[in-house]
Amino acid sequence: ISDASADVADERPSVIAHRGASAYAPENTLAAVDKAAELGIRWVENDVQRTKDGELVVIHDDNLKRTTDVEEIFPERAPWKVKDFTAAEIARLDAGSWFGPAYAGARVPTLEQYMDRVEGHHQKLLLEIKNPDLYPGIERQTLKVLSNEGWLDRQHVAGRLIVQSFSAASVRTVHDLKPAVKTGFLGTPSVAELAGYAAFTDQINPSYRSLSMGYVASVHAFTGPHGRPLEVFTWTLNDADTARRVAGYGVDGIITNTPDVVRDALSGA
Ligand code: G3P
Ligand code: CA
Repeated sequence: ISDASADVADERPSVIAHRGASAYAPENTLAAVDKAAELGIRWVENDVQRTKDGELVVIHDDNLKRTTDVEEIFPERAPWKVKDFTAAEIARLDAGSWFGPAYAGARVPTLEQYMDRVEGHHQKLLLEIKNPDLYPGIERQTLKVLSNEGWLDRQHVAGRLIVQSFSAASVRTVHDLKPAVKTGFLGTPSVAELAGYAAFTDQINPSYRSLSMGYVASVHAFTGPHGRPLEVFTWTLNDADTARRVAGYGVDGIITNTPDVVRDALSGA
C-alpha cells in the first residue's frame, strides 16, 4: 500500500492559510479556501461553531456581526450570536460584502460544505473547535462530521488533519474519543506543564509573540501521544521578516493570513 500522505508532504515549516487565505478573500469562506489553493498553499485553518438547530458552521466570532450582513437582515435579533440562529437563517447571510464587493454573496459555510471544498483541492485541514464551552458535545459532533466526510480514514489522520482548540479540555476530549486524530493546543503552557499536555496533544501552538527558540526546543523535547516529538505551529504572522525569524526558532508550522508572503520568505524568494 502506498503512503497516500506522501503526495501532500509539507515544506518545512508548514505554511497554513489562517481562516483560509484571509488577507485576500473573506475569512472562513469557500472563497478563502479557493484562494489558498490558487496560491498553491496546502494547509488551511478554520473555526467551527454550532447553530441553534445543531448544524456545525465555519465562522470565527461567536456572533455574526463583523463578517455578515446580519444586522441588516435581522435587525431585531441583537446580539446576533451564532448559537441563536438556525442554519437556514445563517445561509441567507452575505459573508463576503464586508470584505469587498467582489465577494458579495459569499456564505458562511457548513462544515460539510467546507470539508468538500478542502477535499476537492486535496488540501490539509487545521480545524479549530472555537468556543467549545458554548457548544456541549461539539467535539463528538465534529468527529462525526469528519467521519462522514471520510476524513478519519488512514490517509487523512496520517497527515491531512489536525484538530486544535484554546480549550485543553476540548483537545483532551477529541483525543480520548478518537486517539488516532492528531491534535493541537492553542496556548503557551509552562515548560513544567508540557509533560501533562503531551499525554493528549501532538502540538503546542502559541502566538508568535510569546515564542522563543528556547521554548520551541523545550516543546520538541517532549514526545506526544503518537510517539513523535511535540510540534509547534505558531500564529498569526503576516510579514517576511517575522516568518524568517520564527522559522529560525525551528517551528514546525506558521499560521498566516498571507501564506504566499510567508512561503516566499522561507524559500528565499
Ligand atoms: O490557528 C491559530 C489562530 O487561529 C488562533 O486564533 O483567534 O484567529 O482563532 P484565532
Ligand atoms: Ca482559529
